[in-house]
Amino acid sequence: MKDKIEEILKYVKSAIETVQTSAEAQALRVEILGKNGKLTELFRFMKQVPAEERQAMGQLLNNAKNEADMIISAKETFLSDSELNEKLMKEKIDVTLDLNEDEIGALHPVTLDFMRIAEILTGMGFSQIDGPEIEYDKYNFELVNVPKDHPSRDMQDSLYITPEILMRTQTSNTQPRAMENIRPPFKVFTFGRVFRKDDIDATHTPAFYQLEGIYVDKKVGLADLKHDLSLILKKYLGESTKTKFRASYFPFTEPSVEVDAECNICKGKGCPACNGAGQYEILGAGMIHPHVLEMNGIDPNIYSGYAFGFGFDRFPKMRYKIPNAKVMFENDIRFLKQFK
Ligand code: DAH
Repeated sequence: MKDKIEEILKYVKSAIETVQTSAEAQALRVEILGKNGKLTELFRFMKQVPAEERQAMGQLLNNAKNEADMIISAKETFLSDSELNEKLMKEKIDVTLDLNEDEIGALHPVTLDFMRIAEILTGMGFSQIDGPEIEYDKYNFELVNVPKDHPSRDMQDSLYITPEILMRTQTSNTQPRAMENIRPPFKVFTFGRVFRKDDIDATHTPAFYQLEGIYVDKKVGLADLKHDLSLILKKYLGESTKTKFRASYFPFTEPSVEVDAECNICKGKGCPACNGAGQYEILGAGMIHPHVLEMNGIDPNIYSGYAFGFGFDRFPKMRYKIPNAKVMFENDIRFLKQFK
């Protein structure tokens, strides 16, 4: 038994010299001290040791176990420390370095997709406007026909900063902002972040992008909405993408519609990306409610208009098959570089 112990210790001392990684050190630990390790096994033979030698032998074995543990631990700690340092060095960013022209990063996939749709919209006579992300409750809700006690406020869990100021929950806040500043006729769109109380998972983030279009003129009708949106979607999603308009409800439009598009991954068959439905809901739209026009100083007897709103992150996610919503917000250059 004594010889065996010495033999194992000798083996440990020579094996440790060849260990190059912390994983190899761990493997050696298992080989010697694991459940079926070489030293651990010897404890099982203690019963066979004559009673008068048992105490001394037990001590010897325990000492050997501690020694082996010390030898392996020291190497393991040393190696895992240097592995961590190496990793940190590799990922180190020197902020004082001159920027190499070839390494200035890449545009975010959401930005790239927005640039595509912006070109389509400007080609159709829309101008881009901007709206604030930190917004008065008045613009986000009240002036788009969602009074304080309106049940549709439950549809959106909002992040309030004060009772009157919140992170906008929808880009529809630009509807009253546009009507306040521009006299009809106007045809505008806006793009930006909106915020809702949501925990992050594969499909939810507390901030996401929306695109909103607004057109106000004399005699704008539902046929214009259907025509213009169909054209935008064909150009944006591809000529062959099938879309379906169906009746819906939004407080700021009457009548309201929602548009479903055929899933561009499974072509309508049903797949994980569209939750098996073969299609997905892409936008809400409708004829701007006369009361909204009126509240915002536009005479509904003279003017009418349509509005539409997209959740925007979904399109680049589908186009590039990005499985996780979280990476869209981390701005990791290794992720972004793929979308040049
Ligand atoms: N603001 C709506 C939302 O966040 C989307 C929307 C629906 C916008 C209908 C519109 C519209 O302009 O007409 O769910």
